[in-house]
Amino acid sequence: MELLELHNITKKYPGVIALNDVSISFREGEVHALVGENGAGKSTFIKTISGAVQPNEGKIVFDGVTYDHLTPQKSLELGISVVYQEMIQFEAMSVADNLFMSNGSDAGFFVNDAERNKKTAELLEKFQCHVSPKTWVRELSMANRQIVEICKAILRKARVLILDEPTASITVEEQRRLFDVIRELKKQGVTIIYISHRLDELFEICDRVSILRDGRYIDTLDISDTDKQGLIKLMVGRELSENYPVKDNPPEKEVVLKVDNLSGNGVRNISFELHKGEILGFAGLVGAGRTELMHLLYGAAGIEAGTVTMNGKTLSIRTPSDAMKAGIGLIPEDRKWQGCFLEKPIYWNISIANIKSLCNGPFISSSKEAALADHYGQRMRIKAPDYRVNAGTLSGGNQQKVVIAKSLASLPEILIFDEPTRGIDIGARYEIYQLMIDLTKEGKSILMVSSDMEELLGMSERIVVLHEGEQTGTIERPEFSQERVLALASGL
Ligand SMILES: Nc1ncnc2c1ncn2[C@@H]1O[C@H](COP(=O)(O)OP(=O)(O)OP(=O)(O)O)[C@@H](O)[C@H]1O
Ligand SMILES: [Mg+2]
Repeated sequence: MELLELHNITKKYPGVIALNDVSISFREGEVHALVGENGAGKSTFIKTISGAVQPNEGKIVFDGVTYDHLTPQKSLELGISVVYQEMIQFEAMSVADNLFMSNGSDAGFFVNDAERNKKTAELLEKFQCHVSPKTWVRELSMANRQIVEICKAILRKARVLILDEPTASITVEEQRRLFDVIRELKKQGVTIIYISHRLDELFEICDRVSILRDGRYIDTLDISDTDKQGLIKLMVGRELSENYPVKDNPPEKEVVLKVDNLSGNGVRNISFELHKGEILGFAGLVGAGRTELMHLLYGAAGIEAGTVTMNGKTLSIRTPSDAMKAGIGLIPEDRKWQGCFLEKPIYWNISIANIKSLCNGPFISSSKEAALADHYGQRMRIKAPDYRVNAGTLSGGNQQKVVIAKSLASLPEILIFDEPTRGIDIGARYEIYQLMIDLTKEGKSILMVSSDMEELLGMSERIVVLHEGEQTGTIERPEFSQERVLALASGL
């Protein structure tokens, strides 16, 4: 039975038609994937379902009732829950409060703290998510925040659960748990709309898939009637090779960064060397301390012990600006909050980290600023009508490209990529890989944190593995295997 139908939806923004006459229907109890390149219109589409966006044209039919648009209130009433790509959470709030905040009234009874904490713990346990209900949301990893959002939907007894790139920031292990929960919800008849750039996983979890390209509806297929190449072709409109670009420039002997017994921010005694022109991967499960380690190197967290030496000089990094001055750039994992100023134009975002080079005396040269933004924006192929529009109007993937462009424009010698292709579509993904290799050819060196096993094995030249804040091993390329990485990451 069709539970939810969208008919002829069109949504226009200045200079962009985000959705152009799109019709898709969703059945009760199916897992229905929505795929397309960055900017194809996926998030806009689901926002018309959640009521966050009002379409210019079209209608929505839910359970036989027709609406010309939905409001967030109405959508919630109908039992539609969304876990957004850009998660809106109240950070200074405990997990339990966050979960019950929007459920207190419709739970129909007053829930006291103890009960609330108990219920929260039970729910989290379903996901084997071992955080205390009293933890503040802002202390949670991206993956755990997502789990909290899904728990919220479960509490609301959602009939439709929409997940906008749920696995973009989680590891293999957590993905497995998430899929178990999705299967469970499906059994209960919940309709799941699933957006992802990781195409392989669709074949594991989805029943049907709909494809969008440039705001247009392309097709809906049974997942069993297609394969990855077939999907890519429909998404991109052409064949695309999926091979990792070859890095034919081996790292040089010269050590650019030497880290000795570094501790702080939850990691202990980390030591490694980064060679000039090398891509050094960092593996580990969520909570292993990879991002925490990168924050130490970037001055975003305090070093308690150990030394960081760059080009033979010991660095004293206390703030990100110390790191940037030393020539270390970070492309953060949590790009939404750490990387992009949504209320500022694209060109402003790209050039902000390199503002000094743009000054003529006390004034910023706007032509230099535009040229710099153009150069790096084009290198990242940011899809925008104009670089003067606010970054907030871009699709999620394109916002990420802005953040990468910004880090590149600050001309660092060492670049830290934390989850470089999270949320980036399949076409741009290989462009980013090529870009990383090109950067090493220009003499830059890269530290890459990734939860994507294929990417780690495909791009790294060596892999440092962390487990619960400690280094459990370093793997050389000839010994690369998923099993080896997972064993070390699990502390075995
Ligand atoms: N508030 C807005 N103002 C102006 N343009 C917008 C706005 N929201 C979305 N757009 C534009 O609509 C198009 C579709 O964006 P959307 O976010 O739906 O893409 P997406 O398929 O979710 O991409 P991604 O994979 O990058 O998340 C993009 O070109 C985007 O720039
Ligand atoms: Mg999106």
